Amino acid sequence: TWTTKAFVDETIDGIRKKVKDRKVLLALSGGVDSSTLAFLLHQAIGDNLTCMFIDQGFMRKGEPERLVSIFSKQFHIPVEYVDARERFIKKLEGIVDPEEKRHLIGHEFIQVFEEESQRLGPFDYLAQGTLYPDVIESADTNINSSTGERVAVKIKSHHNVGGLPKNLRFKLVEPLRKLFKDEVRRVGQSIGLPEEIVRRHPFPGPGLAIRIIGEVTAERLNILRDADFIVRDEISKQGVYHDFWQAFAVLLPIRSVGVMGDKRTYSHPIVLRFITSEDGMTADWAKVPYELLEIISNRIVNEVEAVNRIVYDITSKPPGTIEWE
Ligand code: XMP
Repeated sequence: TWTTKAFVDETIDGIRKKVKDRKVLLALSGGVDSSTLAFLLHQAIGDNLTCMFIDQGFMRKGEPERLVSIFSKQFHIPVEYVDARERFIKKLEGIVDPEEKRHLIGHEFIQVFEEESQRLGPFDYLAQGTLYPDVIESADTNINSSTGERVAVKIKSHHNVGGLPKNLRFKLVEPLRKLFKDEVRRVGQSIGLPEEIVRRHPFPGPGLAIRIIGEVTAERLNILRDADFIVRDEISKQGVYHDFWQAFAVLLPIRSVGVMGDKRTYSHPIVLRFITSEDGMTADWAKVPYELLEIISNRIVNEVEAVNRIVYDITSKPPGTIEWE
């Protein structure tokens, strides 16, 4: 039978045999896959592993700092923090089309990755957190939700840390390629990764950038980051974080009139998107208690200056997608 202990031991052994004394580069994303991978590789080859974290500036409040601190302080795995925030925001100047946004972010990520790997390298191997479903599911396929068939459709271009071009000069090491997500979670838990990583809600590669409808600016990122933080903070406090597949905020580019004290306001709405799902392929909007919505709504309007209205998204998938872009 499959046990996490046996998997960890065999995997560490397998990595050592394969990599020997050569150098490996790993891009951390903050998710459970790359985090588990970092731990296993570090156990296997120690300092011959370089973990790089590229901060695009689109993560949630406090997450980059938290990630670096968990790895360096708790696990004694040094992280090369790459601050690429300015580059990404510059690239996105004036861009409003969702696919163009995704494309530019993906492209810039590869660019930064290449530059940094040359600066830090040379490396012989690139470690990737490829899972079994990624192996069986080729790039542009999807499961038809009613028939279960695999169909070639592309609704959105996905961008992951794993989405690097095939022609990079690295050999790959992919020790998680036989695992399903829940098995990675079990391994992650068994090696002591914190709950906040192991059971984190899915978070898209392009991050908050695709939850800002319209142009992504530093100012709008701050607005969304603050609203998003309140959502996470409240659902954690109320003990309902794990009731949702995802629960997040989206910032709209329109404005509406409101009143605060005795002053007229004219500012942006935030959409709350709370979802239940088994696998992200289909999803239902969550039937959240009104009291929870009220608490979150009040807090966002009171604490985030540029927001004066909150709306709740009651669209399931299909026909809506989970993300707005
Ligand atoms: P949609 O919006 O297509 O999202 O219903 C389905 C699931 O995928 C996540 N998602 C992404 N994950 N890179 C990712 O790693 C991406 O570019 C990306 N886009 C969407 C989304 O959060 C949901 O869980």
